Amino acid sequence: MKITVLPGDGIGPEVCRQAVDVLDEVAAAFEIQIESEEHLIGGAAIKATGSPFPPETEFACIGSHAVLLGAVGSPKFDDLLPEDRPEIGLLKLRKTLGGFANLRPAAAIPALIGSSPLRKGIFAGTDLLIVRELLGGLYFGGPRGFSDDNTEAFNTMRYSVSEVERVAHVAFQSARGRRKKLTSVDKANVLETSRLWRQTVTRVAADYPDVALDHLFVDACAMHLVTNPTQFDVILTENLFGDILSDEAAVLTGSLGMLPSATIGGNVDLYEPVHGSAPEIAGKNIANPLGAIASTAMLLRYTGKNEPAAVAIENAISKVLDEGHRTADIAEAGCKMIVSTDEMGSLVASRAIEFANANYSYHAV
Ligand code: IPM
Ligand code: MN
Repeated sequence: MKITVLPGDGIGPEVCRQAVDVLDEVAAAFEIQIESEEHLIGGAAIKATGSPFPPETEFACIGSHAVLLGAVGSPKFDDLLPEDRPEIGLLKLRKTLGGFANLRPAAAIPALIGSSPLRKGIFAGTDLLIVRELLGGLYFGGPRGFSDDNTEAFNTMRYSVSEVERVAHVAFQSARGRRKKLTSVDKANVLETSRLWRQTVTRVAADYPDVALDHLFVDACAMHLVTNPTQFDVILTENLFGDILSDEAAVLTGSLGMLPSATIGGNVDLYEPVHGSAPEIAGKNIANPLGAIASTAMLLRYTGKNEPAAVAIENAISKVLDEGHRTADIAEAGCKMIVSTDEMGSLVASRAIEFANANYSYHAV
């Protein structure tokens, strides 16, 4: 597998380094050939080349099987117009790769239940997957811009039937592999795009009679996520709603730093932690690399089609947490086992190798 690594900004490079190390070790243990190459994106790319998504980066990404991204965004560029900011690099990358279904799983990890801002009784047992449409809606719809005199600004939320259909199929198929429940989230009481969304998802549902579909308005969904998150299995929603709800779902697990994501359906798959560049803690070796590391498990699952290798990494993460190791963001008061970004990466790598070897000896028997 050819992988392009885009560390990006802030904590991106530190968490990516750990993720790539874990990936390399696990790949070696499972005899998966991986060739990875680093390139620039975001603020780091603006600094070096003047562009947030330079042609060399684009070229490398198109020629690979998967892209692993750290994070993009830096306060240094806060004064720039939206079209010149680091984030544009990420949006161009997404468009170029073509993946329209962004999978963001969020599950209660028993060892971390105390770090969730929710009471244990509410959050325990939560296991949900947000399928966020990634290439449409307000992020990409036109027209957009400022009026000539800068006294108005406008964006366009736009969806076609085919854009909704293709992501709905991914969501229904994901639900089939889980608890067979799909909640489609929209704002159909106000928005035309949401009415089209709801009609289309309802029509696609006919192909999946084994999956139970319900619909929820986005404001109600935000509320249900904190009052009754265990009701959800797969949540399907449009780009901006998915951006917002996935941060909310992520933090319920104890830290935004924990969650991975995969973007599939296009020419090249894209893997990135859900968290951002967290400039305030960048370079301090305290960031949580588990979201990035878990993204490499998704890479092995979806692009590599190697479930045992993916599971080795996921089990390693659970094991390290069960043993009590914590990065600062997920440490409870008085925790004596706080580790650095590097240490967390090494711990996961070594446990993953143990799982990989156990897997091999099991198959050898
Ligand atoms: C995310 C991020 C991005 C988004 C930003 C950095 C453009 O918040 O991946 O959720 O809004 O999609
Ligand atoms: Mn976001």
